[in-house]
Amino acid sequence: MSPLQIQAFDAPLGAEVIGLDLARPLADQAFVRIHRAHLDHHVLVFRDQRITPAQQIAFSRRFGPLQIHVLHQFQLAGFEEVLVVSNIKDEHGRPIGLGDAGVYWHSDLSYKAHPSLGSMLHAQELPETGGDTLFANMHMAWDTLPAPLRAATAGLKAEHTYLAKYAELQKRSPWRPDLSDEQKAQVRPVVHPVVRTHPETGRKALFVSEHFTTRLVGVPEDESAALLRELFAHSVRPEHLYRHAWQPHDMVFWDNRSLMHLAAGCPDDQRRKLYRTTIEGDVPY
Ligand code: SIN
Repeated sequence: MSPLQIQAFDAPLGAEVIGLDLARPLADQAFVRIHRAHLDHHVLVFRDQRITPAQQIAFSRRFGPLQIHVLHQFQLAGFEEVLVVSNIKDEHGRPIGLGDAGVYWHSDLSYKAHPSLGSMLHAQELPETGGDTLFANMHMAWDTLPAPLRAATAGLKAEHTYLAKYAELQKRSPWRPDLSDEQKAQVRPVVHPVVRTHPETGRKALFVSEHFTTRLVGVPEDESAALLRELFAHSVRPEHLYRHAWQPHDMVFWDNRSLMHLAAGCPDDQRRKLYRTTIEGDVPY
């Protein structure tokens, strides 16, 4: 294999990692370079990775403990750390994965007290058309936020709730299971700062999302809704975005502390399947 190279995309975020086979043990020196590149570029793309779920889990664990998704119905059999993201149905018409994951802009597990540090998504089956994933650079969103909006958000906290859009998603995807009381207990609403400081780089980032953020704490309801709308719209301006067009066996590793992401969707009659691992992060401050 060629020596390890990090090639930045011509985009507001993202880089390709060249010369690394994730099926082989990762030397400490290479790990340090990957870790640094992840902080610098926020999305890393590793092409043509022929790895098993166990190898994906092992690589993910180098960055921290893994989080188990509340919808255990869509875990990969034998690997509770792997969430199957897929629109495929089995022979009985049952979904094999979370087919509508990521249809609203979000940062993974922002609804937990310890939201995710980062997620890895490994392509198993890809549609011929569509199926892209978009990423928004939330450091840029903060850096470019107009002064009046900055002033309006100073010191604010926001509530994040897994259940915020659940009923809406169930209407659109009737196969989505009702949550048990135990599952509901795992996703009680949490409060996080609207502007967070990245714990490793010290950079500030907007930390509110269309999917999980329900309200600004202590702000009248209509004002809160209006301000959140402005923050969401600003966050996903085209100049903050990278659009990932998947290639076979791509592994994509992103930083949930720096980014939001969105699944662009694909035609219903085309199969899409990816395996996701999610690494736990710090309490945002
Ligand atoms: C996700 O939000 O984790 C899924 C993204 C995708 O399927 O593109």
